[in-house]
Amino acid sequence: MNKKGVILSLLSCIILTVAARLELVVEMCRHGSRVPQRDTFGTKYSNGKGMLTPSGLRQHYLLGVEMRRRYMKGYPNVHQLIDPSFETGEVFARSTQTRKTVQSASAQLLGLYPLGIGEDLPPHLADVALPLVKIPNVDQIIEDLGPDAIKKGKQPVSVRNFGSEHDRFLGFGGCPYMSNDFIRRSNDTEVWQYNDDKFRPLIFNQIAQAFGRNPDDLHFMTILDYLEALYTEEFEGIQNRFEFSDGEWEIVRSMQVAYLLNILNPLSSEILALRHIDPIRELMRAKMGRDFNETLAGEFGDAKFVLLSSHAYQMAHIIHRMEPENLELNHIDFASVLLFELHRVDSRGCETSTSESCFFIRVFFNDLQLKLPGCRDIDCTFRDFSRHIDGFDINEEKMHQICYSEKPLEGVNLDQF
Ligand SMILES: *[C@@H]1O[C@H](CO)[C@@H](O)[C@H](O)[C@H]1NC(C)=O
Ligand SMILES: *[C@@H]1O[C@H](CO)[C@@H](O)[C@H](O)[C@H]1NC(C)=O
Repeated sequence: MNKKGVILSLLSCIILTVAARLELVVEMCRHGSRVPQRDTFGTKYSNGKGMLTPSGLRQHYLLGVEMRRRYMKGYPNVHQLIDPSFETGEVFARSTQTRKTVQSASAQLLGLYPLGIGEDLPPHLADVALPLVKIPNVDQIIEDLGPDAIKKGKQPVSVRNFGSEHDRFLGFGGCPYMSNDFIRRSNDTEVWQYNDDKFRPLIFNQIAQAFGRNPDDLHFMTILDYLEALYTEEFEGIQNRFEFSDGEWEIVRSMQVAYLLNILNPLSSEILALRHIDPIRELMRAKMGRDFNETLAGEFGDAKFVLLSSHAYQMAHIIHRMEPENLELNHIDFASVLLFELHRVDSRGCETSTSESCFFIRVFFNDLQLKLPGCRDIDCTFRDFSRHIDGFDINEEKMHQICYSEKPLEGVNLDQF
């Protein structure tokens, strides 16, 4: 073998050993900046209510490009997890059923998958690959496409979504106890009194002034629409309702997580967290080659990269319940990500082992790696991670009992986030 050959085989050897390390990534993200869902309080946006703004689309597109750099084969990274050519078995994208989250996932997937890789159309099929309606300038369009099946060799990736009343994973499906709790609490002034007492003296005058309201007309329970308008306007650089000092703005920001966490009681909050973390843990077990619950892991097919396009609401409860020791969560910015990485320990004996001790987990909130309690190191062994989850007050069985201890309240719209 000549020198070049030796170096090449050395290189491929390194890539192969390193390539064996990362087994699974689950990315949960918040949608990007968006037009407020319910009330824009007079501010005009180019997009309709609840849709991403151009900045929100850009945020997710860039996020996708970064995920490509981190995890895609052929990029100068260490992980080499997924193939640049989309394969259904490798990447599974799922979203809640709102415009902003579906748009976020689509924008991110356009960033993740490079252009020009989509399969070409064999030339002899140009006459076959036509829809059944007549297209007057079809020859011109086909000529412009060249060999690309669709423009620029894009790779469309499907984003699955289900109505929030059916979705047992990202939504409220299969747990009347939790959705009823949500509905009752969102309307129960007593539940919000603590936060009202806390924030009223600090910031209600300023918020009222920003919207030309009387502070006595504001209540923490119904403050979310005002907050959402402010957060978007601030992000988009068009907030000119009120000049909040830095300290005041921090308070306004912190009302987000205070609101989101309080809308569920501690038990519902734990149910929501476990409903997300348990299927992820089972998918990890599947990747480790261990016994796993197929119903739970089956939420994601057999993917190596799972994208869950969701909301600050879900993320707040999940992060809160994991009790990270190095994060005080008070605001979840647009396009925030919560990343779970499953790694195989890179040592002799672990190359193909299914032993729990051969695996560890990294959890990130944006660029901060979270230190979970019960984990000796910030890189958490699978065993410690799993024990931490088992330390929740409920498990799958108990959750099932609690969830069906009530009948769903009728006629309430749950699509709040
Ligand atoms: C709160 O109560 C009002 C009045 O009863 C009702 O119209 C509204 O839909 C309720 N909101 C929620 C989220 O249940
Ligand atoms: C798998 O999880 C589902 C949902 O929690 C549960 O109903 C089922 O009993 C579990 N299956 C096994 C074999 O444990």
